[in-house]
Amino acid sequence: QDKRESLYVTNQWANKFFREQLWDSDLGRSIGLSYFKERGYREDIIKKFELGYSPDAWTSLVDKAQEEGYSKEFLIELGLAVERDDKSLYDRFRGRVLFPIHNLTGRVLGFGGRTLKTDKTVPKYVNSPESEIYHKSNILYGLHLAKKAIMDNDVCYLVEGYADVLSCHQAGVENVVSSSGTSLTTGQIKLISRYSKNVVILYDGDAAGIKASLRGTDMLLEEGLNVKVLLFPDGNDPDSYIKTFGASAFKEYLSKHKEDFVFYKTNILLKDTGGDPIKRAEVIREVVQSIALIPDEIKVSVYLKQCSTLLDIEERVLLSELNKIRIDTA
Ligand code: UTP
Ligand code: MN
Ligand code: MN
Ligand code: MN
Ligand code: MN
Repeated sequence: QDKRESLYVTNQWANKFFREQLWDSDLGRSIGLSYFKERGYREDIIKKFELGYSPDAWTSLVDKAQEEGYSKEFLIELGLAVERDDKSLYDRFRGRVLFPIHNLTGRVLGFGGRTLKTDKTVPKYVNSPESEIYHKSNILYGLHLAKKAIMDNDVCYLVEGYADVLSCHQAGVENVVSSSGTSLTTGQIKLISRYSKNVVILYDGDAAGIKASLRGTDMLLEEGLNVKVLLFPDGNDPDSYIKTFGASAFKEYLSKHKEDFVFYKTNILLKDTGGDPIKRAEVIREVVQSIALIPDEIKVSVYLKQCSTLLDIEERVLLSELNKIRIDTA
């Protein structure tokens, strides 16, 4: 409709504003552009992802937008502007570098803004709120630039962050999308499965990333996708791994260290058991719980066999446990 189109046009204008600030203003260049360059991003990547900069001032965007006739109502709905009690407006994004978030056809739905401060009291990322055109749970960051590569390679890499997507592209790996944080949704999974049924989770190698990888695994399995997981050493994420070890080490790490979810989950959980047989039994149950989510019976049986070898448990025991779980959750 008209309103949606106006929202798109307003965001497109804001995207242009932020990009001009990054490339054409003195402060944008010396603060924003040099930030990206210090992080190692090439100009072609900065342009490809349409990255921008918002000046560290209260009304730079809202002043220009209103001067050019963009409606107050749409600026507020999109979250570009915030309204004060006295009805005056101020910019949501101030002094941040910006990552526009696109839909499948490349239209801008919203923005993620990263702080340039190292001070831990400000949120690292500020994101556009939900609006009539932006529903976070149905968007994967980077999908519009990844869909062809996902189809061609028949696999999708799933990362946590904006920076990870950029670095993967710069390293020549383009079949990658971000869930923008660690809470993957069913809507996002359905989007991936239009292009490939194979997902490799590349979440951050920290406690939050590991936890999210296990939750994400179960959700992906439930939707019938094939799941592998890879963990980067020493708390690295794909971006920091690439920056530290280089693109070819990254690609080699990808090809050597991705594991079927059964191995991944088993190894993660076994680490905490210290050989305690009761805890080990709990691990087995938890791995079977994941297998029980898979809709395809042939795959279920393949994974039960893997699990049986890996944990040295008879398959019939695993099968009876699986049937119990299914009855309990039915
Ligand atoms: P991370 O905390 O892993 O950040 O969050 P990052 O992407 O590695 O950040 P850099 O490398 O320091 O720039 C992963 C993703 O979670 C979302 C963002 O989409 C981020 O890219 N996030 C994170 C937020 O939305 N808000 C936050 O405050 C933090
Ligand atoms: Mn809608
Ligand atoms: Mn993280
Ligand atoms: Mn990260
Ligand atoms: Mn990072």
